[in-house]
Amino acid sequence: MGTHLRRAHIQDHDNAAGLETHWGYPDRVVPCVNDQGTCEYLDAVYRMHDLSMLYTFILWAVIGGVLALWVAVRIFRPREKSTGLLKATFRDAEASESKHGQSNALRVWRATTATINHYMLPESFTGVFGHISRVQLVFLAGLLAYLLIFSLVGISYRTWITPVKKSPGKFNTRTGLGGFSDRVGALAYALTPLSILLSSRDSALSLLTGLPHTSFLFLHVWTGRIIFIQSFLHTLGWTIIEARLYQPQPAVYREFMSQLYIIFGVVAMLLITVLYLGSLKRIVRRTGYQFFKLTHYVTAALYLAACWIHWTGLACWIIAAIILLAIDRGIRLMRLLLIHTGYLGTKNCVGFKKAEAKLKVFEDGDGGKILRLELEHNHGPWRAGQHFFLTFPELAWWEAHPFTPASLSSEHPQWQRHVYVMRVKRGITRRLADLAISRGGESSLDVLLTGPYGAGSEITDTSRAKNMLAIAGGTGISFVFPQVLQLLAKTVDDRERGLTQLVWIVRKRADIQWFLPEIEGLKKSIEDRVRCDKEKVALYADRVKISILVTRRSTNEPKATGSCVSSPVTSDISNEIGEDTTFKNVERSSVSERLDILCAGGRFIHVKQLENHHPQIAELLDAFATSCTAGTIDVVGSGPVGMGTDLRSAVASLNHASNVWRGNQTGPRFASQSAHHGESAHHVPAGSGSESFGKGFYISLSLMSVGLVGYTLATSSETAPRITRLIASFKEHREERDGQRNALHQAAAEQAAFDRQLFASATPSHSGVDLRYPEALNRSSPWNVVAGEGGADLSKLMEYYARENEKVEKERAERIKRKGKITTVYDDTTGGRFPSWMPWVGGSKKVAPGFKE
Ligand SMILES: Cc1cc2nc3c(=O)[nH]c(=O)nc-3n(C[C@H](O)[C@H](O)[C@H](O)COP(=O)(O)OP(=O)(O)OC[C@H]3O[C@@H](n4cnc5c(N)ncnc54)[C@H](O)[C@@H]3O)c2cc1C
Ligand SMILES: NC(=O)c1ccc[n+]([C@@H]2O[C@H](COP(=O)([O-])OP(=O)(O)OC[C@H]3O[C@@H](n4cnc5c(N)ncnc54)[C@H](OP(=O)(O)O)[C@@H]3O)[C@@H](O)[C@H]2O)c1
Repeated sequence: MGTHLRRAHIQDHDNAAGLETHWGYPDRVVPCVNDQGTCEYLDAVYRMHDLSMLYTFILWAVIGGVLALWVAVRIFRPREKSTGLLKATFRDAEASESKHGQSNALRVWRATTATINHYMLPESFTGVFGHISRVQLVFLAGLLAYLLIFSLVGISYRTWITPVKKSPGKFNTRTGLGGFSDRVGALAYALTPLSILLSSRDSALSLLTGLPHTSFLFLHVWTGRIIFIQSFLHTLGWTIIEARLYQPQPAVYREFMSQLYIIFGVVAMLLITVLYLGSLKRIVRRTGYQFFKLTHYVTAALYLAACWIHWTGLACWIIAAIILLAIDRGIRLMRLLLIHTGYLGTKNCVGFKKAEAKLKVFEDGDGGKILRLELEHNHGPWRAGQHFFLTFPELAWWEAHPFTPASLSSEHPQWQRHVYVMRVKRGITRRLADLAISRGGESSLDVLLTGPYGAGSEITDTSRAKNMLAIAGGTGISFVFPQVLQLLAKTVDDRERGLTQLVWIVRKRADIQWFLPEIEGLKKSIEDRVRCDKEKVALYADRVKISILVTRRSTNEPKATGSCVSSPVTSDISNEIGEDTTFKNVERSSVSERLDILCAGGRFIHVKQLENHHPQIAELLDAFATSCTAGTIDVVGSGPVGMGTDLRSAVASLNHASNVWRGNQTGPRFASQSAHHGESAHHVPAGSGSESFGKGFYISLSLMSVGLVGYTLATSSETAPRITRLIASFKEHREERDGQRNALHQAAAEQAAFDRQLFASATPSHSGVDLRYPEALNRSSPWNVVAGEGGADLSKLMEYYARENEKVEKERAERIKRKGKITTVYDDTTGGRFPSWMPWVGGSKKVAPGFKE
């Protein structure tokens, strides 16, 4: 442990007989030679610290446990058995499935996943958490609950007032606040590698869970926020301790702040604040996504360094985080080199080879632009739905953007053809569009690729009926299209074919053209399959449906009727293209004709104009599910945020455990994620720029303020915290009240004894027969005569006994008072009045026994 820690601590190292090692903390001096309060406090501090270490490791054990459970479920989940009925018809295969009975375990599994989908797929609290499924919220809630509980458990809620050495009359207030501050600090350190892991493109998390790295970005953002809050609490706690609770001031605080590890603590706090503020949506919008990314990396690296120096005892967490960061970066570099290292024909050697891409720009008719980028490069295959990170060294060598190839890969070592459609936004995509426009609408440029990333989808079992509904909005087509192609290509026997429907929703009819070659290619491949076979034509017409839904109409466009837009579209598109100077190189008539042909066929592909509204996703899904007679249903989707939200709730509402259990339905499932959800954890849709910081920001701010106010209330520079004093004040009153009540009881008992003695000596007014056992009559004892009823004059005697009694009572009261335990009625400063809080007395004047009025 560094000398700065030694110095900072309150132990007496010079007189140490021995040292006790505590992991992550300065060694403990044994035996403790400080004053008793300080020694008790040190006991508490070391106990709290040891528990903190334990809880950080339990945190990782829990994370490991959850991952292990996930992996176990992935490995051992029941799977559909291959029936080997490839030749049977679609319905026969289903009948056979129910006859042979897929195992009960499979039914339980399906019913369970249907229930999970039903409740967990929809989004909640989107204002605070954005568009993420409830599964992610459940994980976040679990993490928050763990951190909350283990930040408070095992903290010493006591106060020690200890003398300050060499400062007579000064006292330190020592509380569990130090232990609490260290606890949240230790948990923040333990969370750091998790936060890095959640942000990595090539992380073990994706490998183990099979989820794409984009699924973890939400939790990365939230662990970052949690670390920021923990760091804030840690800093606040120690500032209060060193600036207020320890004496003498300001000497203690000045000395504390001058230490190296504290300086680095302050630097780390500033850096995490910059990280937090810099990732606020409003700031990202203002500064731009690339600026955010760059500053985020640099600040994060500096933060890790500052944390390491601040508390070397816990450097293991920081080292782990740095290793994870380095692994991620290293793998990225490896992937880049693997894709781009190859034979350089021109130089006759092996070296680094960039891919050359062709770029074309399209107007979408709404003032927006779409880019189409095509390239060929020799590298390994990828799965449908996976994406690559593209870098354009001519424009920005330091930027890499995710894009999804709309094309299917071929088996290596064939050259791979990549087709990308990109919505033009404000950064690199705009610069690409400007470049293409400046070169006449088309351009070629170098591209660097890294990838593939994401889970993608792979169809391994082609023996079973599989229904797929693929819904895409705009450029989202590049995510779903290859998956449809793959399904159509892979099913071996057409009679096994389930229902395949692709719904592509576009804004304007003109939008179809940037994906025209692919749609035409799909149509052609279906036609090639069914050629000259009437049975197949009917089968495909029944089982394969491609719908293009156009949601907006250009202003000068005549209203079209019917499902297929033919000649009006041609002229419309020609008009739109005619106005667009970037289309100089496109053969206008051929685009129009090709669109006409596409619509004219009408058997597999339908183009439908909607009147300025988009379709209801739930209705599309309902209709699809109704048409599916058997087999599993996979839903893949990608498009604008609203579409993703609708799709998730639609899929969730169709997942009913009871139906699945009865075998009536398999429950639609997301075979792939709706792509927009993982687009970016900091996704900022284009907008006015006048939006607020967001609810999350204000909630954290309010929580901090409430915490601050709460803490200020709970602490003070006086002897004990305010809340403790408040509780103590109630206790004081209670003791006082108990004392008075005891005194009253005692006085009443004494009065009774006094009366008894007094009247026992009185002569009865009449003679009677003595009872042998007067107690037998108890209450109505003949001896218990009312004072003054006797025959003799007892007044003198009474006076005598009253005096005697007063004397004895006074002496006794003095005695009791000296013992200091009980207050007696003789102490009553109200002159013999009983306190008004005694309701049975009702505030009337009563004289205590032995006192005269
Ligand atoms: C897995 C995945 C696949 C995608 N596939 C496609 C696709 O096939 N076609 C398509 O048009 N778009 C796709 N996108 C979105 C695309 O990456 C962004 O639109 C693009 O990076 C915008 O670049 P820009 O510099 O012009 O954006 P800017 O105008 O600078 O930023 C606009 C928004 O784009 C997002 N963004 C910008 N840079 C990145 C980045 N490096 N990483 C992640 N998000 C970023 C941010 O949310 C940002 O707020 C995909 C996104 C993801 C996450
Ligand atoms: N991860 C990936 O693999 C991947 C790949 C490609 C694209 N993307 C992302 O997908 C998104 C596509 O954006 P875009 O600009 O290309 O699309 P867009 O043009 O804005 O929208 C396409 C169509 O979807 C319709 N639509 C919008 N909300 C809908 C809803 N709730 N229900 C039904 N239809 C709806 C729109 O109708 P209106 O006329 O009503 O607007 C429009 O016709 C982008 O965010 C992009 O980044 C992701």
